[in-house]
Amino acid sequence: MQLLGIGPITSATSLPAAGFRGRIHKAIPSSHNHRPFTVFSLMASKVPADTSARSGGFGFLTQGPYDPPSWASHLSPIPFRTFSLGHLPTPIHKWNLPNLPPNTEVWLKRDDLSGMQLSGNKVRKLEFLMADAVAQGADCIVTIGGIQSNHCRATAVASKYLNLNCFLILRTSKALLDKDPGLTGNLLVERLVGAHVDLVSKEEYAKIGSVALTNLLKERLISEGRRPYVIPVGGSNSLGTWGYVEATREIEQQLQTAADTRGFDDIVVACGRILQFVSQLDFPRLAKGLGYAINTEEELKFVKEIACTTGVVLDPVYSGKAAFGLLKDMAEHPEEWEGRRILFIHTGGLLGLFDKTNQLTPLVGNWRHMELHESVPRADGIGKMF
Ligand SMILES: Cc1ncc(COP(=O)(O)O)c(C=O)c1O
Repeated sequence: MQLLGIGPITSATSLPAAGFRGRIHKAIPSSHNHRPFTVFSLMASKVPADTSARSGGFGFLTQGPYDPPSWASHLSPIPFRTFSLGHLPTPIHKWNLPNLPPNTEVWLKRDDLSGMQLSGNKVRKLEFLMADAVAQGADCIVTIGGIQSNHCRATAVASKYLNLNCFLILRTSKALLDKDPGLTGNLLVERLVGAHVDLVSKEEYAKIGSVALTNLLKERLISEGRRPYVIPVGGSNSLGTWGYVEATREIEQQLQTAADTRGFDDIVVACGRILQFVSQLDFPRLAKGLGYAINTEEELKFVKEIACTTGVVLDPVYSGKAAFGLLKDMAEHPEEWEGRRILFIHTGGLLGLFDKTNQLTPLVGNWRHMELHESVPRADGIGKMF
């Protein structure tokens, strides 16, 4: 797990001009050694009126023109259309986490509530990517990721919403390559919506690379007369990143209309593929996770603890690790966080927890066989067969 900046391609240096000052915390769930989050500061600055307000009423699953915020209009490429796939704006509310430093507030941006089967931060990227696929006349989508990739699941659903076939290349362990991948977590949704799944081993993935693998499948599909549109791992390219530009605009607008306009000092968010930009960002401390989709017992205990105390269910791969890292950092360096107002972005990924049920089972309790003494009267005729 690693410390990161605001997202892949959009140069990290371009966003502070948009009313940010300070730090962004992000987390990368890989095996690289970095602090598990990054910080940006966002004040309730004056932003232009929303020129891309989402159409109300029947706007869901419709296409519309896209106007970037003025502070992002120098970025390239500028998309000219977007497809409304997410339930946006997602709510922001105060998150009563235990053991915070004095006068520190943590608020939660609920991107996990951006939908149901099509939910999480990936919806934001797909709004731009799927609009492009449709504009290019694609008849199917190809993408790639880990066996429990939230991005692949979201893409599979979005594809079907738009009447496109979806071809997924999923990375798994060598021993499982020739077995049915099962229906756990994200796989259940992907397979229910009829995505085609090609399994590759972690070794093949590492040797051949995600770009070559998706190109291979793309060429095969073209030779069969299909018109595939390839979305890279995590939807992470310059077009998909516009989803995060829009998320930034959304937060700014929410701040403008909030009763309390104090703004946030820091934004903390889990992230995947910004490693290549890490050198452009300023990360004061680094920490190490076990590796992508691998959890320590401590992390899972933390996810359970937070669910139990606040009702918010974090995912094991991204937001769980990021929040764990944040609270650990707060415990180790309370003076750096004291009095700050932090916005933590919950990026979704609930379905990934289903892949952790074995590890989670010993952590949950609260069940028993209901005590029903013989003296409890039985209604005549009901349950007689037992
Ligand atoms: C739940 C969740 N959070 C965060 C991320 C990271 O997003 P990104 O790769 O766009 O930084 C992902 C990506 O797979 C994800 O599924």
